[in-house]
Amino acid sequence: MPTDASGNITVVADTARTSGFSFTEPGFFDRSDPRDDAVFYRPPRLVQHIDDAAVAAVGAYYDEVGADGDVLDLMSSWVSHLSTPPRHLTVLGMNHAELAANTWAHERVVHDLNTDPRLPFADASFDTVVSTVSVDYLTQPVAVFTDVARVLRPGGRFAITFSNRCFPTKAVRGWLATDDAGHVRIVQDYLVASGAFDEPVAEQRPSAGDPVFAVCAARR
Ligand SMILES: C[S@@+](CC[C@H](N)C(=O)[O-])C[C@H]1O[C@@H](n2cnc3c(N)ncnc32)[C@H](O)[C@@H]1O
Repeated sequence: MPTDASGNITVVADTARTSGFSFTEPGFFDRSDPRDDAVFYRPPRLVQHIDDAAVAAVGAYYDEVGADGDVLDLMSSWVSHLSTPPRHLTVLGMNHAELAANTWAHERVVHDLNTDPRLPFADASFDTVVSTVSVDYLTQPVAVFTDVARVLRPGGRFAITFSNRCFPTKAVRGWLATDDAGHVRIVQDYLVASGAFDEPVAEQRPSAGDPVFAVCAARR
């Protein structure tokens, strides 16, 4: 499969492979690199994971969602793809140097969600939680999403965006086994299974470059 300049990200071809493989089935969360995520994410990757057009599309989407106030960027790196800096931005990811380079962040937290899906934040501490091109790496997404609801204020939104690219050795098998439409369904299923959000709204966003898919739900 092709890789980009970083040598890591692979474009997942959209070949209508939607398989009906449910996240409740055995093997869905297997990964070809089962090592601790800390190993893979040890070297900082100060790269862009989607092209400029997709970055702009993600920023426009987060604007529409109203990502402002106290915002958590979950599974973050050196850039949070918001179009303007929010009042207070907290970033959580795996690599300290990447988060340190995120100039918009007020608070930086290194935390492995696959080791501990609980978020190290107080109840109702955020207005919006965003997560960009990363949901495919979660091995306990329903537990994470349930805890996202806990740290969101009532009515606060969880907005998740993704494209058709990933680190294939760290993405879960169920994600790699399906196509764009399947990915949208998977994220919707995680939100519904958490039982903590209103009906999720999914859409493909206009992008002249890499495709951008978005799923958003408000905390009950
Ligand atoms: C493809 S990068 C996307 C980074 C950033 N959201 C962006 O859009 O540029 C995937 C990110 O997911 C984070 N990540 C991967 N596995 C994680 C885990 N187990 N716990 C927390 N964050 C994780 C990594 O820190 C990495 O920055």
